[in-house]
Formats: sequence, structure tokens, C-alpha cells
Amino acid sequence: MAVRLDLGDIQGLFARGYREHRYAQFTVFSIGEAPAGRGLLEWLLPHIATAAPFSGDVALQVAFTASGLRQLGLPDHVVTGFAAEFRQGMTNPNRSRFLGDTEESDPRGWAWGGPDGPPADGLLMLYATGPALLERWQAELRRQLGKAGVTGTTELPARELGDTEPFGFHDGISQPIIAGLPKAARAMRTVPAGEFILGYPNARGQLTGRPLMPASEDPRRLLLPDPTGSGAVDFGRNGTYLVFRQLEQDVEGFWQFMDAATRRPDGSQDSSDRAALAAKMVGRWPSGAPLVKAPDHDTPALADDNDFAYRDDARGLACPIGAHIRRANPRDSLAPGPAASLDASDRHRLLRRARSYGPAGGTGLYFICLAGDLARQFEFVQHTWLNSATFNGLYDDADPLTGSRHPVGATFTVPARPVRRRYRGLPLFVRTRGGAYFFLPGVSAVRYLAQLGT
Ligand code: HEM
Repeated sequence: MAVRLDLGDIQGLFARGYREHRYAQFTVFSIGEAPAGRGLLEWLLPHIATAAPFSGDVALQVAFTASGLRQLGLPDHVVTGFAAEFRQGMTNPNRSRFLGDTEESDPRGWAWGGPDGPPADGLLMLYATGPALLERWQAELRRQLGKAGVTGTTELPARELGDTEPFGFHDGISQPIIAGLPKAARAMRTVPAGEFILGYPNARGQLTGRPLMPASEDPRRLLLPDPTGSGAVDFGRNGTYLVFRQLEQDVEGFWQFMDAATRRPDGSQDSSDRAALAAKMVGRWPSGAPLVKAPDHDTPALADDNDFAYRDDARGLACPIGAHIRRANPRDSLAPGPAASLDASDRHRLLRRARSYGPAGGTGLYFICLAGDLARQFEFVQHTWLNSATFNGLYDDADPLTGSRHPVGATFTVPARPVRRRYRGLPLFVRTRGGAYFFLPGVSAVRYLAQLGT
């Protein structure tokens, strides 16, 4: 079905990762007084970059948690229309258990967003093409936040965007190709926009649950109508959920583990062995070359290759079943078989928009992804594919890169002939240091929020 996307109302992060905007800073804030928060939105509105063609040097995006929307005066009966996971928030104890945010990743120890700190109500995302420009705009944001009486801000500066994440692997290669966006014209397989943007048909041909409200509550007609023609207005239309998690990476511990695990009996070491083991864990070589196409050594010519499946590697001899990318998107490798598996995998895609940070304040990834359905997409991938020790026939193997190790999951199995190799006692390489579930509204919904109560 051809769907016309309202790109001028959707925030730009849906259409692009702002790769030319190599400098980024994120600001999490508490709203405090509602009128002040709304003043901030008034100022912000003309600056929000949309998904329409864009050539500006600076892009701003804004998102809110459920508490932020309430704080701005969005009535409870509208907030109830959002997904339960969003309303509960990332640090709700049920969500923490489900996401593996326990032990070292327990929200009580987070740097921000945890239960003891100021509430994470809003998120400003600033992207710029140069460092001076970023600094100038960040100073302006600080001024505007101060003027609005906004408190409890946490600034999260990103590292200049490069090709690799902190462990040293090329990242940001595989993304779903969304029907209705330019790249889709050349693609064999696309994912419907409704998987990522509310108000459009999802992979089941349905509209994902969204916050509707009576048209009488929008006398200025700022919001868009419910596309089903119910007569209600749709606060969620052109919006999407935004998962933000600060994932700290123990880069030194990661490579120490690879060294120790690949040391030969005579004590000697071959540096290519440690890279090969780490590549087995990721499913791609440091250059990005996928193991299914380059099983024996890194092949930089395949660095951006995303045109592969796992059907010729059913046992995982090239790319282990438990490798990060094979779990995060199993493509055709799930039971009962390739065609059904490809469809199933497409129901759990994530639009990833990560940036790395560090070394100041630790090193890691601001894992950012967009999803129209938090439970079916982000939470499912995190819980059922990455963190599950029994994924796809394994039994004590959580994701070697990002998985938690409690109480099980500290093994990494590398299928090989004649016998597979098991690495036991994997330490934790990644822990959660902050996070929240945000909603990235359409511009018309931001405009509606800005005038609430006036
Ligand atoms: C610090 C933590 C993480 C690191 C270092 C990391 C690293 C990587 C790398 C190097 C790739 C390969 C590049 C690519 O295919 O684009 C990748 C792919 C991917 N990661 Fe992660 N990742 C992390 C956390 C996560 C989390 C928490 C999720 C989801 C909940 C996730 C989901 C994915 C997905 C969906 C892919 C693409 C798989 C595919 O389509 O083949 N990652 N990651």
C-alpha cells in the first residue's frame, strides 16, 4: 500500500541519523513549572528539524517521557492512550527486570534517570556540523532552559561521530529500509513506516495503539485527525517512541578478555586471534565485513555489506548463532524456516540512532532507537533475543557483547569443526548508566503542548 508520509510534521531523526552533523549533545531535563516548560516549547518550535529534505548546519529534536507530558498538562485520559511500557517508564521495577537492568545496571546506581535523581521529563537533541556551532547552540539551549525555569538538567555530550563504536567495530550499517522514504525505491525488502511512526499502517496492516482525544479538546485544531475517520484527533500521529540508554562499555576489560582467551599454551599471542574472537562475538569484523561473507579474515571491501542472510550457515560455523548481530536481527535463521523467519525478524526491527561518548565521564554508547511499538520491538529484542541465555537453541549464552550475566548467560559458544569452542565466565562488558523511554512527537503535537493552559 502506498503511504504518503507527512515528512514536514515528523521529526527528522526518523529519516536520518544526521551523519553529516558529526557533533551532538543531548540534554535531559525536568520540567518543574508547566507554564515555563511551555515557554521553552514556544521558543523551540521554529527550530525543530523535520524529516523533510534538510540542509541546515544545526538540527534540534525534542522528546518527552510520560511524566514530562503530564507535567506539561496533557490530561491523564490522553496519556493513558500511550503504550504501558512508556507510561510505566524504563525504571519501573518490572521493566528493569525485563530489560536486565539489575545488579551493576540497577537504576538506583544510574548517573541520571534513576529513581533517586530529578525526573527525566524531556530530552533535547542537538546536532551540528562543527564543534564551535555545537557549543554556541548548547549555550543558547542552556540560556533558554534557564529562562524557562527548567531544573535538573543533565548534559550528555557525544563524541565526534566516527565510523566505529568504542570497542572498535564499524557500527550503524544495518538499518530497516522504510517504505515511503527515498532509499526504499532501490530495496528488495522494506518495512512499513507504521512500524516506526504512529498513525500509519504497521506490518500487520493495522494502526499501532496511539493516544487519541476528543476533537473538542483541541479547539484551535492544532492536532491532526485520527486517520480512521473516527472524528477524534490523534496526539500521537507522526510521533514515535525513542529509547535512550547510556550504555557504558568496559573497553579495556573487553580486550583483556580477548587476550586472555586467545593466549596460546606456550604463552605466545597472535593479535589476529583476539580480533577474530571479538568478531565472532559481534558477527562482523572491525571493518564491518559480515562473518557469513568473510568467515576467515577481515575484508574491508565488504565493510558496508548488509546484503546477506544466514541460510548457508545454519550451524553458525561462520557467524555464531549467539553473535550480537545474529541475535539482534536473526534474518532468516529462526525456526521454522527462512521465509517465516524473515517476516518474524521484520516485526522486531529497530531504527538505530546511537552516538558514542567518552572518555570524559566513562566510555560507551548512547544507545538510541526509534520504535512504534516498544514491547514488540525494543523490549523484545533486548529481552528475548539479546539477554536470553536460551536464544535459538543455546543454553547459557546471553549476548556476548551486551548481555547481562545474572544469573546465567556468561558463556559464549563458537560452533566449529570438529568440536565447538566454549568460552565460559564472560565478564560484563556493558552496563546501563542511565536511560528513559521518550516520545518524539510530531511538530503539530509539540505545538499543541506549547499552548496547553493558555
Ligand atoms: C554498547 C552496546 C552495543 C554495542 C557496542 C553494539 C555494537 C553493534 C555493532 C558493532 C553492530 C554491527 C553494525 C551494524 O550491523 O550496524 C551492531 C548491530 C546491531 N545492534 Fe548493537 N550494539 C550495542 C547494543 C545494542 C542493543 C542494546 C541493541 C538492541 C536492544 C542492539 C541492536 C542492534 C541491531 C538491531 C543491530 C543490527 C543487526 C542487523 O540488522 O544485522 N545493539 N551493534
